[in-house]
Order: sequence, then structure tokens, then C-alpha cells
Amino acid sequence: MTKTESLRALEDELARDEGLPLRESNLVFGEGSPDAAVMFIGEAPGFYENQLKRPFVGRAGQLLDKLILGLGWKREDVYITNIVKRRPLENRDPLPEEIAAYAPYLARQIDIIAPKVVAPLGRFAMNYFLPAAKISRDQGKLFRVGGRYVYPLFHTAAALRSTQTLKELTEAFQKLPAVIAKREELAAPVAESAPPVQQSSLF
Ligand code: URA
Repeated sequence: MTKTESLRALEDELARDEGLPLRESNLVFGEGSPDAAVMFIGEAPGFYENQLKRPFVGRAGQLLDKLILGLGWKREDVYITNIVKRRPLENRDPLPEEIAAYAPYLARQIDIIAPKVVAPLGRFAMNYFLPAAKISRDQGKLFRVGGRYVYPLFHTAAALRSTQTLKELTEAFQKLPAVIAKREELAAPVAESAPPVQQSSLF
């Protein structure tokens, strides 16, 4: 099976899974290049995402597009999804059990795409990979979690509310090409006896 076929099969399985919460909302599986070097992972779809069944198409998405274009990349070159694949009503935060229910699908989606770097946006997505991390302290740092390189970033929605957050997000975003290219040097190698999460000391 090609990556595209595997992603389609995973999306079909997700759509049919009646045990998942939030089934009153539309499924927003994710989109982009199956060969993306970077996979951006948000929290959950919002109003416009639910309407269009596409991730990051509202104001937070427009800022994400702008940051991606600012690197000379195109939106189609990356892959964009969320931890929770359906919109919680009234845009409330996703519940831990909702995150847990969708987590196995996200893990398989990441395995299929096998990006060089995973960039969780905001604390919910970051804490999925790094439960003890703090977004204001750890955004813009590269972590190695299991076999994956994880580069947490502020959520674009938070950057729309604070100029300081926007500045820090923009700075961290601009480092993405270097983070991808130098990920093996930037994230300390994980020794067998070491804890599974290590943080780069170079940032
Ligand atoms: N915020 C998110 O976390 N995800 C989206 O898809 C849109 C806004």
C-alpha cells in the first residue's frame, strides 16, 4: 500500500469507529503531503474546520499558512492535523478521554507519514508527546520522544491574542528548516538507560 492508500484506509476506519466521542461533529482527518518533512498537530477542529472538514482553515489557520509561506514552503508541502479529529461543541477544550480515544489513530497517522519532525501546536498537542512539558518554557526546543523528533510551538490561536507570543512563535518557526536539517545533532541521543525524553542543549 502507498502512504496515500494507508492514510485513506485509516480515515475510513476512523469514520466507521462508532466508539469514538464527538460523533455529532464532522470528521476532520488532516491534509497535506504524505511525504511531509514536518507534521503540524493542533488541538481539535473549530467552527470553520468542522464546516469545511479541513484542519486549520480559520484565523489560526491563516496565521499558520502565513508562517509556512514565510519559510518559502507551500501548505501542500507539510501535513496538518489535530489530536482530536472532531470538533468539541462550543469550542471547549478537548477532554482527556477524548484525546485518549483519538490517540491511537494519531499514532498510526504519524507512523504512516513518518515526518522528520513533529510540531505540536499548543499545550494540548505538546502534552500528548511530552506530558510534563510547559509550553512557555519548552516551545522552540527540540525533544526526542521514542523514535520521533518533537518541536513544540505556541498555538497560532494564542499568537493571535498576544504580540509577545506571536514574536516567539515566529522566531521558533523560522528555525524549522535548521531543526529539520540538524535534528540528530540538536536533540541529544537517547541512551538506553536514559529517560525517553531528552532536550537539546543547543537552543
Ligand atoms: N485550532 C486547532 O487546534 N486546530 C484546527 O484545526 C483549527 C484551529
